[in-house]
Amino acid sequence: MDVSGRAVITGASAGIGEAVARRLAAAGFDLLLVARRAERLEALAADLRTKHGRDVKVLGLDVAREDAAQEMLAAAPDATVLVNNAGVGRFGPALSIPAEEQAQEVRLNCESLTRLTLAFLPGFVARRRGVVLNLASIAAFQPVPYFAVYAATKAYVLSLSEALDVEVRGQGVRVVAVCPGPVPTEFQSIAGSPDAHHTPRLARRTPEEVAEVCLKAIRRPRPVAIPAPFHTIMWWFQRFLPRRTVARMAGDAMKKRLAGQGAAPG
Ligand SMILES: NC(=O)c1ccc[n+]([C@@H]2O[C@H](COP(=O)([O-])OP(=O)(O)OC[C@H]3O[C@@H](n4cnc5c(N)ncnc54)[C@H](OP(=O)(O)O)[C@@H]3O)[C@@H](O)[C@H]2O)c1
Repeated sequence: MDVSGRAVITGASAGIGEAVARRLAAAGFDLLLVARRAERLEALAADLRTKHGRDVKVLGLDVAREDAAQEMLAAAPDATVLVNNAGVGRFGPALSIPAEEQAQEVRLNCESLTRLTLAFLPGFVARRRGVVLNLASIAAFQPVPYFAVYAATKAYVLSLSEALDVEVRGQGVRVVAVCPGPVPTEFQSIAGSPDAHHTPRLARRTPEEVAEVCLKAIRRPRPVAIPAPFHTIMWWFQRFLPRRTVARMAGDAMKKRLAGQGAAPG
């Protein structure tokens, strides 16, 4: 699909979001950058204006706020791409993490992403042009003990994206779930999860590599984009295993990671 125009990117102040902003600006998109740390967005916007001569707007905003979608629509009524990238996770035994923190994770990863998607889609459909890219994860493919709420939120993102894509595709619009494995960013220190640099290269991607996949996903008619072929194969094979077995295997792998951090679950 030939989509250009303005891309709205949440969580553009760091990690994958920043890399997506850089890649889309280089590809000729104007941007609206959204995150809470506005000073970081201002610095990125100045850099992208200088390097690529694009129109880059900045919005310092907590996207989990109920009125975030209205503010973003008002700032970018001409948007053609929405990248729902802002997201958090909490790693560890679910009963050791404060319930309110896990509820906040659901509000950001699921509720806010849903509000934003449903706010931007009507304009895309009316203009018969637009793509929503939702950052899911390989954690979406199976239950993940010790990353339980995070994996459940990403399963929601994957399912929602695939379903909405079927609903809007005939109207010139697409919804794509992007499913990276470990990517070294601030995500791990915020989640309290192991440093992604320890993940074998086969399964690890850089933010820039994920950004490249995002750009391709905007142009290609596929509803799910998985940056590492290793994970595509893994996803395909685990469909033939009982879900309970897959959950247990994921739990064993996560237990080892927790033990490696000196925080073994019982
Ligand atoms: N890194 C990985 O291994 C990995 C793997 C698979 C999927 N993902 C997914 O990829 C996405 C990006 O992850 P990342 O690794 O780039 O994480 P990151 O480095 O921690 O960046 C997260 C971004 O989200 C923003 N953000 C967080 N809460 C926000 C809020 N309430 N309102 C607005 N912005 C908010 C942060 O900016 P402010 O703090 O300035 O608001 C930051 O720009 C997430 O959805 C994550 O689940 C990551």
